[in-house]
Amino acid sequence: MNPVHRDFFDGGAGEERTLRDNEAAFRRRRIIPRVLRGTGPRDLRTTVLGTDLSMPLLIAPTAFHLLAHPAGEAGTAQAARSAGVAMVVSMAATQPIEQIADTGAALWFQLYPQPDLDFQARLLERVTKAGVEGIVVTVDSPVLGTRTRDLRNGFTDLPPGLACRNMDGRDIAMDDRLGWPHIDRLRRATDLPLVLKGILHPADAALAVTHGADAVIVSNHGGRQLDGAIATLDALPAVLDAVGGRVPVLIDGGIRTGTDILVALALGATATLVGRPVVDGLARAGAPGVRETLETLRAQLDHALALAGAQRPAELSPDLIA
Ligand code: FNR
Repeated sequence: MNPVHRDFFDGGAGEERTLRDNEAAFRRRRIIPRVLRGTGPRDLRTTVLGTDLSMPLLIAPTAFHLLAHPAGEAGTAQAARSAGVAMVVSMAATQPIEQIADTGAALWFQLYPQPDLDFQARLLERVTKAGVEGIVVTVDSPVLGTRTRDLRNGFTDLPPGLACRNMDGRDIAMDDRLGWPHIDRLRRATDLPLVLKGILHPADAALAVTHGADAVIVSNHGGRQLDGAIATLDALPAVLDAVGGRVPVLIDGGIRTGTDILVALALGATATLVGRPVVDGLARAGAPGVRETLETLRAQLDHALALAGAQRPAELSPDLIA
């Protein structure tokens, strides 16, 4: 990959403290396994907001897949489909949602709240017609994070020929005046499950539920927005407390192995999302590369469940984690 584009995918905001801490938070945990549980073959299946998953993993929304590989977002979706997981399609996808949906993958669509309500309504209508099963609203981006590597590399624009194909020739707007009324309008505008992504503070998790969110994703945007923000795994317990089981709580950031998934689930997450490892798989080998990433994570999770003494993700509990 062009090293400038590699830096775009790998990099974080500021000094990349949060980027590093997401992974470090998982490495700080240890598993206290149970023994002699006679689990037999494991069953990793789960359902999140009506979407069936072969394992508790979704592909996190990431921008610009055509920069990573000519297969683009459709290649990623093809792998999601064959692995039986869902893909959250980024608003900054470089292929049209219809082409991505043609793969037959289970899709959710990620939206940055747009101040132009007419455009936002048209986009919602378009992705709904394409068959997406959920809307993920990213709420951690009133302004763009300071992407140190991109600034150093002068990476500001997509190369000629590439564009955000679902934006009708517009740029994605980030608007620092948007607040909860915008979420209320979105809630009224769609019957699809509405998921708020980028929640870290427990008070915001509680507000998300009262404003009609069907799920929240504990996320700091993979350390690309507020550098110094808390690692997602460290934020998870307080968010779970605030939500109190009313809606599913998902998490992303720093998940690199099946044991990381086990730790997140044991602490109470319903499912996990994975960003950079999927892009890496795509860059390496297109759809088969993404498939390999997903199957590696599945095999690791299955193995970790066996060794920790659980047959199903739902059997995991916080007492397994130190
Ligand atoms: C992202 N992320 C992101 N999030 C979002 O809501 N819309 C987007 O368009 C993007 N784009 C994007 C591009 C790249 C290159 C990365 C690495 C990330 C954030 C993403 O959904 C997710 O929160 C993190 O990637 C999760 O962290 P890991 O798994 O990459 O550590």
